[in-house]
Amino acid sequence: MPDIIKIRDVANYEEQEVQLQGWLYNKRSSGKLRFLLLRDGTETIQCVVFKGSVSEEVFEKATQLTQESSFRVIGKVTKDERSPLGFELQVSDLEIVHLADEYPITKKEHGTDFLMDNRHLWLRSSRQHAIIRVRHEIIRSAREFFDNRGFTLVDAPIFTPNAAEGTTTLFETDYFEEKAYLTQSGQLYGEAGAMAFGDIYCFGPTFRAEKSKTRRHLTEFWMIEPEMAFCDLNKDMQVAEEFVSHIVQNVIKNRNKELTILERNLDFLSNVKPPFPKIHYREAVEILKKNNIDFKDGDDFGGTDETVISEQFDRPVIVHHYPAQVKAFYMKRDPQEPESALAMDMLAPEGYGEIIGGSQREDDYTALLERIKEHNLPEKAFAWYLDLRKYGSVPHAGFGLGIERTVSWICGLSHVRETIPFPRTMHRLYP
Ligand code: 4AD
Ligand code: MG
Repeated sequence: MPDIIKIRDVANYEEQEVQLQGWLYNKRSSGKLRFLLLRDGTETIQCVVFKGSVSEEVFEKATQLTQESSFRVIGKVTKDERSPLGFELQVSDLEIVHLADEYPITKKEHGTDFLMDNRHLWLRSSRQHAIIRVRHEIIRSAREFFDNRGFTLVDAPIFTPNAAEGTTTLFETDYFEEKAYLTQSGQLYGEAGAMAFGDIYCFGPTFRAEKSKTRRHLTEFWMIEPEMAFCDLNKDMQVAEEFVSHIVQNVIKNRNKELTILERNLDFLSNVKPPFPKIHYREAVEILKKNNIDFKDGDDFGGTDETVISEQFDRPVIVHHYPAQVKAFYMKRDPQEPESALAMDMLAPEGYGEIIGGSQREDDYTALLERIKEHNLPEKAFAWYLDLRKYGSVPHAGFGLGIERTVSWICGLSHVRETIPFPRTMHRLYP
């Protein structure tokens, strides 16, 4: 028996016998020929079954194969200039592993709901492969960025006793007769990590009971969150721009084929290099006014506002100094302008909006306790968090990058639902 190899490696086996295994992506028949498009997850290859060169039994099996049936083939790798892969397989033997039932996803156009209901199968399509591989590269290069800079991975728990990002989007669970909540952000634990290790990041799933049905909201999404001791807002913004640039440049370099499948225009992406424009909240409001957007000064920006602001720039823009009243309790206020938080959001271009939220944190015990009370948060649940301000408190800052929104932007998608293998939204818990 020849070696079993992956389709992506066939170039190393030209004119040699190999064994391949996978699923039938597509089939064409004409007279004495069966053209089987075999997919093994790494690539697809056309397998040519010629009646004259195989047993009757093998030809019959090739004829029987239905879409997504699993099978093994033995054959010779030959050059084929016309195929995207550059090679095809001249089959000598074929074994069916499982003959598939009639496959629900066909070549005709399907509606999004139908495809989402069949997400477990839809993941087999080439477009979904491209998106998930870009996602993988985004996560790989995001970790690489912090690893290269000596950050320590300090992960945060999923079950938490308290809110981090407001009490309106908490998922509550029963935790042995106590209430627990699914984490909205690892940040507060990241701060403890930063006081222990200096520079840390955490990376994991986060949860928000978002009642909004928008193209940017999931109820379960992944966030990577660095936290840095002895760091102020300026340094925080600088790390954020270098980080996002690192990710985008890596995807362009390592996932070019996937971006081509997604028909992604690279003009905008190639621009994503520091420095990014950085504007004060006031300047952002000016932009909205100039564009005749109905906006109340002092409010947070909505999706449309972010689109208008980000459209003014050829790369992501960072907006800083948001009004403290629209931001989280833990953000430090600017002593120079106490109504503003030392906060920043990074807005992606082309209408994608916020991909990063971050800030310098309140490091003073008394001020933080006051904020906790103002926000009606349970003091007891935050006792450990307040401790960090009792034992060697230092200026510190960090941010969180939402993986799905970043995938959506880099891939040029119209909705976050395709950016994660199994999306969770207000109306979707299945599959
Ligand atoms: O701006 P957010 O709420 O910031 C925090 O959670 C901070 N604690 C992060 C930190 O400083 N360590 O969320 C950060 C990012 C957003 O910019 C967005 O990319 C993503 O998380 N995000 C969502 N992505 C998908 N669906 C949702 N419902 C999201 N909510 C936030
Ligand atoms: Mg935010």
